[in-house]
Amino acid sequence: MTTTPAPATGATFAEPGATPLALLLLGREADTASERGVDCPGDLPAASDPDLVARAAAAKAKLGDKVFILGHHYQRDEVIQFADVTGDSFKLARDAAARPEAEYIVFCGVHFMAESADILTTERQQVVLPDLAAGCSMADMATAEQVAECWDQLVDAGVADSVVPVAYMNSSADIKAFTGRHGGTICTSSNAKRALEWAFEQGEKVLFLPDQHLGRNTAVRDMGLSLDDCVVYNPHKPNGGLTAEELRAAKMILWRGHCSVHGRFSLDSVNEVRERVPGVTVLVHPECKHEVVEAADMVGSTEYIIKALDAAEPGSKWAIGTELNLVRRLANAHPDKEIVFLDRSVCFCSTMNRIDLPHLVWALESLADGRVPNVITVDPETEKFAKLALDQMLALP
Ligand code: 13P
Ligand code: SF4
Repeated sequence: MTTTPAPATGATFAEPGATPLALLLLGREADTASERGVDCPGDLPAASDPDLVARAAAAKAKLGDKVFILGHHYQRDEVIQFADVTGDSFKLARDAAARPEAEYIVFCGVHFMAESADILTTERQQVVLPDLAAGCSMADMATAEQVAECWDQLVDAGVADSVVPVAYMNSSADIKAFTGRHGGTICTSSNAKRALEWAFEQGEKVLFLPDQHLGRNTAVRDMGLSLDDCVVYNPHKPNGGLTAEELRAAKMILWRGHCSVHGRFSLDSVNEVRERVPGVTVLVHPECKHEVVEAADMVGSTEYIIKALDAAEPGSKWAIGTELNLVRRLANAHPDKEIVFLDRSVCFCSTMNRIDLPHLVWALESLADGRVPNVITVDPETEKFAKLALDQMLALP
């Protein structure tokens, strides 16, 4: 079932102190007034309730095969312990599609993942996101209107016919539908190279949405393109800040979006850890900036990172550049290896952390009582075209 190591007892990884900043990043002490519309009808259990684990287990047992819980690798341990499967966004999309018998899919991840699950599951199934505030700042960096404007500019520059859109899974259903309408594909960090190879067989240029770093890193590291082949379309500038000549000359048109978590790693973090931990292997996620990826020893998705550490020699030393929940879990699961976080500052994904045990208990107990909370539904027209692009991804060689 799950390949993610379970949280170990006798953990060696130090929990960051409960500073106001750390608590805010963890989703506690949040400003509730700024979160209208995301409250939980009924009772959200208190985080201090000592029975939360037992309550979650009881509600899950009562629901039996009716419920299937998916957990992204960046989720908290307290939530991951209840996941039927864990995975990166690619694996979870496939796992959601492969469970037609489960009436309810409880998605412990973020909004765009739950949308993709709704698109890939049957009409009869309902996808539940335990906290509707679990969004993704990167996905929010490309709106349907902005992308439509960008496409108009590609048409005006006379290049639209040769452009194939490739949208990262970390995008809204609207952007996935745009991609499907224009003959493109979705990709994840596990299959971005295969997606680009496919796209360059269909056309001469790629419009890569919304993560400029994954697009640039894959184009340059894996496809042999140069940095000069890439331009960045900035939706906040007139014409994206690009001339028609620049668009005609480019092979990769990168959307100006990024992950606020992985964007925190810098070249200094890599240099500093190499000094601090002699002999360390630096392994980073491809959402990191190009200079970080260039300076690292290994690059890969969350699944890749987990497998690399599973295969690592006892005594080996690793600095990992990805979300802290996963790094901490890996450090605890491999006490025979020295695993450190690439950057010294706290680096949780605050929106992933919105899904905590109280919200999971609330969602499961609501389902067990016959109420279906926080259903994520994509409208049929959007779903039709988004599914084209998602199916194209699932069919990549
Ligand atoms: P993967 O799960 O594809 O590695 O992506 C990481 C991520 O940022 C998910 O939000
Ligand atoms: Fe979005 Fe980055 Fe958080 Fe993933 S880690 S959900 S890309 S902000």
